[in-house]
Amino acid sequence: MDTSLGNFIARLRAGVTTTSARETELIGARLATAVPDNTWVALRGDLGSGKTTFARGFARSLGVSGDVTSPTFAIFIPYDGSRRQLVHMDAYRLHGPGDLDSLMLDDCLRPPYVLLLEWPERLGDALPLDAWHISFESVDKSRRRIRIQNPAPFPD
Ligand SMILES: Nc1ncnc2c1ncn2[C@@H]1O[C@H](COP(=O)(O)OP(=O)(O)O)[C@@H](O)[C@H]1O
Ligand SMILES: [Mg+2]
Repeated sequence: MDTSLGNFIARLRAGVTTTSARETELIGARLATAVPDNTWVALRGDLGSGKTTFARGFARSLGVSGDVTSPTFAIFIPYDGSRRQLVHMDAYRLHGPGDLDSLMLDDCLRPPYVLLLEWPERLGDALPLDAWHISFESVDKSRRRIRIQNPAPFPD
């Protein structure tokens, strides 16, 4: 990983405060370049904390065109990126890991992919051990605190 990307990851581990939705998109776009293939990225935070905004920037960075909106009603939406598939999932309406079986998510994941998961707490311990975990917090109307949390094995 190049030094500036390494620095960026280190800053996100400490926590970064964005001051606009655009800035949160840019964080998502940059982080997308660091996430390895076939990784689940858990986005944790209250409603309106910026998870979907982050996902939009992430998607753009993977070469996804068109709208990227909340998948709340579809549960998950697959997108074709230029090199990898993006699956954007919102587990808000799920009641536990058992609900995953009926969704046939596995059939939909085509390597190389990245899965962005909003409301990961709904899935309990069904997340892969090597999932990345990112937290979002609303500081005020326009500021959001974004932080990479452990456990998350990052390349140096
Ligand atoms: N710094 C910021 N980062 C992200 N979103 C912001 C920021 N400031 C204001 N917003 C607004 O907050 C809302 C975040 O919504 P969204 O990304 O859908 O959150 P979530 O998916 O966590 O519910 C959007 O309306 C966005 O424009
Ligand atoms: Mg959302």
